[in-house]
Amino acid sequence: MRIDIATLFPEMCEAVLSASIIGRARKAGKIEICCHNIRDYSPDRRHHRVDDSPYGGGKGMVMQPEPIYRCYLDIIRQSLSLPHVIYLSPQGKVLTQKKALALREIPHLLLLCGHYEGVDERIIEKIADEELSIGDYVLTGGELAALAVTDAVARLCDGVLSASECFEEESHMNGLLEYPQYTRPERWEGMAVPPVLLSGHHANISAWRQQQSLDRTRQKRPDLLE
Ligand code: ADE
Repeated sequence: MRIDIATLFPEMCEAVLSASIIGRARKAGKIEICCHNIRDYSPDRRHHRVDDSPYGGGKGMVMQPEPIYRCYLDIIRQSLSLPHVIYLSPQGKVLTQKKALALREIPHLLLLCGHYEGVDERIIEKIADEELSIGDYVLTGGELAALAVTDAVARLCDGVLSASECFEEESHMNGLLEYPQYTRPERWEGMAVPPVLLSGHHANISAWRQQQSLDRTRQKRPDLLE
């Protein structure tokens, strides 16, 4: 099995994944794990910029789609395989052991880590097959979650745990999800930013976001509305 991790902090991931059981399994060739720095794929050759302010206003910065997309394409080129792409986000389904067991069956996973206020919604639409959360709380970025997913899945792969570490018999916010975020460019890969966010009409933007929050919560986490 191969797991790629796309992140702004590859050294953080490498540090964890070089240690202990997973580090040993990697060295032994039982599992292939590759960490990639999204900043290396910035089209901005001078400053290596990867984020910009959100369309429609608001706090924080949003990661732009293009560096992530270039990183994704390079992983396909390197691996000669199309990965199953997982975006780590507090909006995803919560990781369970059952889910880890299902992911173990997929030969190539790509874990995408967001930072700041998240990533431009269009890259999620473009490449993500699913979103996963590690719980109903907010981390500063997707790295810890990607590490949790990687660890939970890798340890289930053949040869990763020793016989004595065998897993076969072990046990086992209130409110709404956030609305989608968009940043420059205004059109990307044929996908446009919702016009209301370019209108400068704060009341309309606010209403639109509220509706999006409601719709997404109903769609993605109906249990939160119960
Ligand atoms: N990014 C920020 N918080 C997260 C969470 N709880 N799970 C996955 N990714 C995240």
